[in-house]
Amino acid sequence: MKIFRKASELVQNLLSIKDTGQSIGLVLTMGKLHDGHLSLIREAQSHNEFVICSIFINPTQFNSEDDFNSYPKTIDDDISKLENIGCNLLFLPEIQDIYPNGLVKNKTVNNFRNILCDKYRPGHFDGVTTVVDIFFNIIKPMHSYFGEKDFQQVKIIKDLVKINHHKIKIIQCPSIRDKTGMSLSSRNYKFSNNQSKTFYKLGNIIKEYINLLKQSEINNLDKLKIELQQNNINKIDYLEIRNENNLEITKDYSEARLFIALYIGDIRIIDNFKLY
Ligand code: PAF
Repeated sequence: MKIFRKASELVQNLLSIKDTGQSIGLVLTMGKLHDGHLSLIREAQSHNEFVICSIFINPTQFNSEDDFNSYPKTIDDDISKLENIGCNLLFLPEIQDIYPNGLVKNKTVNNFRNILCDKYRPGHFDGVTTVVDIFFNIIKPMHSYFGEKDFQQVKIIKDLVKINHHKIKIIQCPSIRDKTGMSLSSRNYKFSNNQSKTFYKLGNIIKEYINLLKQSEINNLDKLKIELQQNNINKIDYLEIRNENNLEITKDYSEARLFIALYIGDIRIIDNFKLY
């Protein structure tokens, strides 16, 4: 696997790939790769001749310096996972190369804002769209793959592509879930034993609640909140049922998902679950 740290070298190297008409699939990550990321790489491999993964912990999308500094860095492990899976190229830039004029972020997308994570992490999505736009401009892939765990992020990135006229198809991929049904996340490795147990319990509580909602045996989220609190999950940003197309609150479950964001200790968990 080729590894490039400088955008200019990467761009130079991609010329020959693009000249031969090979399609490029891109998977953007912040590292600490897990099976969710690897499934995106596999999906990219099945539709493109050349697959690029990037690892860049983007400072402008964090809400606190502590959170940014404590984000896991497991680059050697990540490189072996990418080599094992047969990824063609890893782009591993420095902050200076991505933000040569200092850390700036722009608000480009106005849809899907002020709700869900945007309400609780102001500015986060501006950091995301800024960095994704920079990567898209450097790499200009044909396809780029994003996981549904970050459902709102995928919607906002699809809008970014339209607004900035990128000729890139965004492919939305299902979450890879653990045995309790929760999506894998790079942050979960931080759990203590007790927190892992709480996470496991959370998965089971949600699974049961989803079944009740699907069978119309319950039509609100009050009991879910109480049950989470009884299991020491007290900091809940949101538990909401929204239409998966426009992200508006809905009572019609035919195209709806339950969206959650909550904390176990200081670890923030977001996920979403189909209700149909
Ligand atoms: O989903 C992520 O890991 C990040 O938000 C992304 C898309 C790599 C941008 O930094």
